[in-house]
Amino acid sequence: MKELARVRDYFPLGLAVGSAFCNRQEETQLLVENIKNGKHTLLMATRRYGKSSLALHALKLSKLPYIETDFYMARNEKIIEVYILKAVVDLIGEALGPVDKLIVSIKKYVKGLKPKLDIGTPVLKLELTPSSPETDPATNIKEALWLLEKLLEENKKQAVLLFDEFQTVGLIAEGKGIEGAIRHVAQKTKYLTFIFSGSHRRLLKTMFEDETRPLYKLCWKIDLKRISKEHYQKHIQAAARLAWKKVLSNELIDEILVLTERHPYYVNKLSDRIFTYYLKTPPQLDNIRTEWLAIVQEEKSDAIREISLLSLGQKGVLLQIAKGEDQLTSKQSVMALEMQSSSILAGLEGLEEKDVIERGEDNQCEIINPVVKYYVLK
Ligand SMILES: Nc1ncnc2c1ncn2[C@@H]1O[C@H](COP(=O)(O)OP(=O)(O)O)[C@@H](O)[C@H]1O
Ligand SMILES: [Mg+2]
Repeated sequence: MKELARVRDYFPLGLAVGSAFCNRQEETQLLVENIKNGKHTLLMATRRYGKSSLALHALKLSKLPYIETDFYMARNEKIIEVYILKAVVDLIGEALGPVDKLIVSIKKYVKGLKPKLDIGTPVLKLELTPSSPETDPATNIKEALWLLEKLLEENKKQAVLLFDEFQTVGLIAEGKGIEGAIRHVAQKTKYLTFIFSGSHRRLLKTMFEDETRPLYKLCWKIDLKRISKEHYQKHIQAAARLAWKKVLSNELIDEILVLTERHPYYVNKLSDRIFTYYLKTPPQLDNIRTEWLAIVQEEKSDAIREISLLSLGQKGVLLQIAKGEDQLTSKQSVMALEMQSSSILAGLEGLEEKDVIERGEDNQCEIINPVVKYYVLK
């Protein structure tokens, strides 16, 4: 069946799927190969850069069964346990089908957990719960994950667990024993593959790159950056051909990319408006600027709130970055900021910690959100 070609499908504010998915070819290929070969991956990038879109794109291409669990609302170990046990049960269903034929095997592998069959549903449904409320979540998680691996092995099937906003697990008292439990299983699995994904770089780095933490050196790391200008040009051009049956001038496309600074979310937000309001005839340069200003206005209060949470020092440093100063601790910059270079470095660290800035491809500091940058400069 041919897919319906709708120009607005090119620029979603949510997941980028199908025609909306621009490039990320190398990352996709690496992730698909990792998934197929049982290599765990850590997918890292700031919010709204395209982690979920990439993970789901690669999972779809791999054709393997998977379950996605988002930990952003997890508040304690017990809740993490509930999430992971549910993911295991759901993935058993996805990968292996009806549970009746698995019962003998399931009994073989569980000790602390209590498997139950719910006969109230059209198909028998497996339930996994701790045998008593006092049992340790980490132990139960280890057992459930190992059960899943063993069932997959018996049936010679592969499957994937996608753990999103995984830094939350590390935050809860450094993952308690849970990180250790996951490592215990993950370092031995051949059929079950993990994708860990998250937006808090600093926390994820301590979880995965600190040698005292259990998940140290367990994964391939994919650090997601912005999509290149060339790839976006092709992408927007394809939408233009569909909408207006003609090529859009590079000047117009570049304006979209400069204003949004190729932040994936804002590229889509601005482009969707342009393709909606100028469906009949292509826009002029001024129209693009006007639409961008409207977006900037709408997001003003969020941006101002983000800026107001910063310390005075951080604000000063942020302004220098917004102005394009790349030698932040140079004599000139120290004078302009009236700060010591040690305080400037502390300011930078705080800004990175709060996810306001990040290091770009050339290790240069960049403000993540173009709307925040706009108000910093104002
Ligand atoms: N490969 C891509 N091509 C085009 N747009 C993308 C791509 N990946 C993500 N986006 C867009 O970026 C925004 C954030 O995507 P999402 O996958 O939800 O990011 P994250 O999971 O990192 O928060 C959405 O508007 C989405 O449509
Ligand atoms: Mg996401």
